[in-house]
Amino acid sequence: MKISIYNNYEEMSTAAADLVVAQLAAKPTSLLCFPSGETPTGMLKQLVQYAGEGKTDFSFCYFVGLDEWLGMNENKEGSCKHYMYTHFFDLIAIRPEQIVFFDALTTAVDQECARINDFISGHQGLDLMIVGIGMNGHLGLNEPGTDFDTYAHRSALDQVTVNVGQKYFKNNTVLKEGITLGLRHLKEAKQAVLIASGTKKAPIVAAALQGEVSTDVPASILQDIPQAYILMDQAAASALKESPAIQRIDV
Ligand code: PGA
Repeated sequence: MKISIYNNYEEMSTAAADLVVAQLAAKPTSLLCFPSGETPTGMLKQLVQYAGEGKTDFSFCYFVGLDEWLGMNENKEGSCKHYMYTHFFDLIAIRPEQIVFFDALTTAVDQECARINDFISGHQGLDLMIVGIGMNGHLGLNEPGTDFDTYAHRSALDQVTVNVGQKYFKNNTVLKEGITLGLRHLKEAKQAVLIASGTKKAPIVAAALQGEVSTDVPASILQDIPQAYILMDQAAASALKESPAIQRIDV
């Protein structure tokens, strides 16, 4: 596990976007996974700008959606798919067949999980999987208590996720379950990347990266993933103890 701390959100976001650019330069047909949420917005904005300037090209790669609130599709503002289209896919040149999302309206959840698992294994795994961290340490919708060895699955949402998740919706929204890629996908990704920003994330970031490795804090799995790379701003890093794994980047 390697940790880079940037001065601020903008610098962290640019560094995360640069990782994507490097990945696509090395393998244009990469299978990528990005999170939705507040944290990735800066990275996506930078990627849209890079694509407009011709600095990167999304024509040959594939995207798989990280997670979704069960029972929602892209028509619902606040859904992960709606976020990814409005912040990214609608703003770059990409064909629909390059994008694969969970159908979270399905009643056959296990089959839907199998479809996504097969899509990923059919591509020999994820080349780059980027995730954010929830206030309860979740990654995607892998909630506290989730086995580290699961692939895609249905998840019962933790109360913290239900409460914090309201920020994505205009009106109070019932959130009960999710459908998500699993922690095993992260473990097996060729590059496993976490991005974190802001003081409010500092305690959970410290617990995840320097506390006990436990399913109580799903993000603690990162400590056991040698290829894991964590990018964060100084605010998110403010509760971390100094460690040889940490590199401070002054751009
Ligand atoms: P956020 O969400 O980027 O909106 O803080 C992170 C997450 O819950 O994974």
